[in-house]
Amino acid sequence: MKKITVKKQAIEKIKSFNPWIYKNEIKKFPKDVYKGEVLSVYSPNGEFLGIGYINPLSVITIRMLSFFKKEDINKEFFIQRIKRAFKKREYLKKITNAFRVIHSEADFLPGLIVDYYNGYLSLQINTAGMENFRKEILEALIEVLEPKGIYEKSDEKSREKEGLNTEEGILYGNIPEEIIIIENDVRFIISLQKGQKTGFYLDQRKNRKIVSDYVKKGFRVLDLFSNTGGFGIYCGLKGADFIKFVDISENAVNLIVENCKLNSIKNYQVVQENVFDFLKEEVKKGEKYDIIIIDPPSFAKTKKEKEGALRGFKYLILKSLQLLSEEGFIAVFSCSHHVDMEDLKDTALSASKDRKTPVEIVEHMYQDIDHPYILNIPNSLYLKGFLFRKCII
Ligand SMILES: C[S@@+](CC[C@H](N)C(=O)[O-])C[C@H]1O[C@@H](n2cnc3c(N)ncnc32)[C@H](O)[C@@H]1O
Repeated sequence: MKKITVKKQAIEKIKSFNPWIYKNEIKKFPKDVYKGEVLSVYSPNGEFLGIGYINPLSVITIRMLSFFKKEDINKEFFIQRIKRAFKKREYLKKITNAFRVIHSEADFLPGLIVDYYNGYLSLQINTAGMENFRKEILEALIEVLEPKGIYEKSDEKSREKEGLNTEEGILYGNIPEEIIIIENDVRFIISLQKGQKTGFYLDQRKNRKIVSDYVKKGFRVLDLFSNTGGFGIYCGLKGADFIKFVDISENAVNLIVENCKLNSIKNYQVVQENVFDFLKEEVKKGEKYDIIIIDPPSFAKTKKEKEGALRGFKYLILKSLQLLSEEGFIAVFSCSHHVDMEDLKDTALSASKDRKTPVEIVEHMYQDIDHPYILNIPNSLYLKGFLFRKCII
């Protein structure tokens, strides 16, 4: 295995188990490294720091696979990592048959995402380093998880940055067009082929429950950026009287209808529209709702986009406050690392001043724990949000 030497500033990062080494933190490159090659990482004074893979094309040039331990990166390595990750999630089986098994860096397998959907796996390989272990990863997944089928959805933007093409299709076994999953007694139809990301927004599982626990009989719910209806359907099963779902994606809204049928939800409306346009019209109509969910896609993929993202959030919160009943609740989420909890709170505070109403936060919410938040990896906390209501004074 070739050696690579990192600069002083990278040593503290590695000692803190942060797996990313940037290009400017590398002191000496070995000759003729290939994209994704596994290397042993050393400090300038020769201390062994661990094992990582390199991509000279990427700003994140090394991703660490192992810290302070000389080990072979082979099928057995992947088997052990997958076993550990799966065991950690075992208790989730009490409430669901769908969960994330491998969450990339947060499961110490940078660049690899694996979701389990009722016996089937959805897989994303997002880096050249992981791509080189495709065969070992597949064999390890089959051996440990014994899936009925594996579907690959490696269509992330990050592959482009790594100099890799999109890969999509069945890798193993068979994949039905629709898979039914259950979480917290709510059933959803998943389409690995047509669904977004790996098929479903599993990270919001806990928050769907938290928000829907606030539903009272007769509540009217507005599920904005609803995707296939996750939040709204939970609310319907908790006794909401009426649910309006809004999403721009045709594939997503088609599945809302099927998901409502599957859960015997009858009083609902599906709107396929841009939420920003929809809200303008809805306010004009003078509609009122008791729970409004704002769960947009990542508005800020880079730091530069943060300002625009916050303007977007402010608009969404301002309009939602106008649509909110006196005793209603708003749930707002950001899945962008660049818009954190404080940014979201500042935005809600600013909207509360504009609308001349104080607001009270009743719940703080984060990604569910099959998407681990590793304290040592700051980027691993990505989904955050809160539930709030107007103060009546
Ligand atoms: C984070 S997902 C929502 C997940 C959903 N709440 C759930 O629990 O499954 C964001 C959704 O916003 C939709 N979307 C993106 N931009 C939109 C827009 N401008 N108007 C309406 N929907 C949009 C996407 O199609 C996607 O389904």
